[in-house]
Amino acid sequence: MESAHRLVVFVDVALMLLLLNAGSWSDGVLVGPPPDPRPPSKGPPAVKVGFYNAKCPRAEEIVRAQVEKRFRIDHTITPALLRMLFHDSFVRGADASILLDSKPGNEAEKDALPNLTIRSFDLIQEVKEALESACPGIVSCADIIVLAVRDSVALAGGPKYDVPTGRLDGKVSSKDESLSLPSPAFPVEQSLESFRQKGLDLEDMVVLLGAHTVGVALCGFFNDRLFNFHGTGAADPTMNPQLVARLSNVCPNPFFTESNADPPINLDQSTPAIFDTSYYSQILAGNGILLIDQEITADPTTIGLVHRFTSPAEFFPAFVRSIIKMGNIGVLTGTDPLGEVRLRCNETNRRSSLPSGPSQPVHRPAKPPARRAAPPSRPGTVPVPRPPVGRSMKHPPLSVLRPPPPVSRTPPKAPIHKGKPSPAPGHIRRRPSPPSSG
Ligand code: HEM
Repeated sequence: MESAHRLVVFVDVALMLLLLNAGSWSDGVLVGPPPDPRPPSKGPPAVKVGFYNAKCPRAEEIVRAQVEKRFRIDHTITPALLRMLFHDSFVRGADASILLDSKPGNEAEKDALPNLTIRSFDLIQEVKEALESACPGIVSCADIIVLAVRDSVALAGGPKYDVPTGRLDGKVSSKDESLSLPSPAFPVEQSLESFRQKGLDLEDMVVLLGAHTVGVALCGFFNDRLFNFHGTGAADPTMNPQLVARLSNVCPNPFFTESNADPPINLDQSTPAIFDTSYYSQILAGNGILLIDQEITADPTTIGLVHRFTSPAEFFPAFVRSIIKMGNIGVLTGTDPLGEVRLRCNETNRRSSLPSGPSQPVHRPAKPPARRAAPPSRPGTVPVPRPPVGRSMKHPPLSVLRPPPPVSRTPPKAPIHKGKPSPAPGHIRRRPSPPSSG
């Protein structure tokens, strides 16, 4: 029984490594990169700084106030929003397609494997409601995301910048298209290819990875680096041995444990809640968490940029240029029939609810529909190695074998105090413990 059990573990693990090394994000089906649904737009985007000045002069002020209010109780909105913008922009452009709910006959981006731990949807909706009260039907959800990112980065100690607005919201969101997001196990060359497909270059990629100066990654994204790097049975030799030792005590070894714990680990070991340059000095010291973080210090094409971005005078302006560029990928603007200003960020406008003139009241349902949890695990599945708990169920390989446990998109409650050490070493408790599967 015991040996059969071990065999299952090894089959699981072997499959996991195979997929991590070879595949892209997928819900159990190994696929090549899907065709880019929206190639990067040609020419300068039709967005501009101050787009809402005439139609909704307080728009940016309203966004800032809401973001500040939330930041006061939850510093993790900065990483949450940054990652939301990245995942939105890379799929169909920055059109808020990531905010749309799945509906019968259409599974949306939100429910794709790489997006299961995207958070702060509720914050965007809250901002939207405040804007709808002030100027109904004017400010798009896509613009709210870029504005909220801008404000939360500044609040976390990062650069302050003007950001162009005037995006429309997309009407389409497809789970499958999210497979074009780069996997954390991609080597530099392959990650760069994903960025190039979106009109971003090597410098954009290295400077945008600097967003990993805030936030966390679940152990499941890198535990092969701790316990069985490239099938060697040993840790990744490029990872600082002290970090390996520390994280090996925090992350369960998926190869030899029945634990289903998958704790989040700070991406930046020094100042995980501050938007600064310490990500770069940390990765130079071998303290990169994800493989891609460490690999940009080993690749001759990227190491120069890594050194350059240890200087705030270099990093901040370059980050601003690239985050604006990312927010301009494939934007829908003007009277583009593919876009609209959504009335609610999680659903496209229904025909009947579209404002058709000044006298026509805008129909808005009283309450947003509750977020749908992921399907529960099948009873009786072999419990090892467990997929990550809760929303962490996004490691491509294990999903092949087991459906995810119920997940919650509830925002984290515990505030993170800027610059203070985490409760456990290297570890921010940002999510309440999700219910166990079943
Ligand atoms: C090659 C490109 C990239 C890869 C492979 C990658 C991969 C990942 C992974 C696996 C995580 C952990 C997610 C989790 O545990 O829930 C993560 C977290 C994060 N990523 Fe990236 N990322 C990339 C680029 C970017 C970019 C361009 C940005 C934004 C500009 C970004 C911002 C973040 C942030 C802020 C977090 C922390 C999220 C949180 O705390 O909730 N990443 N990334």
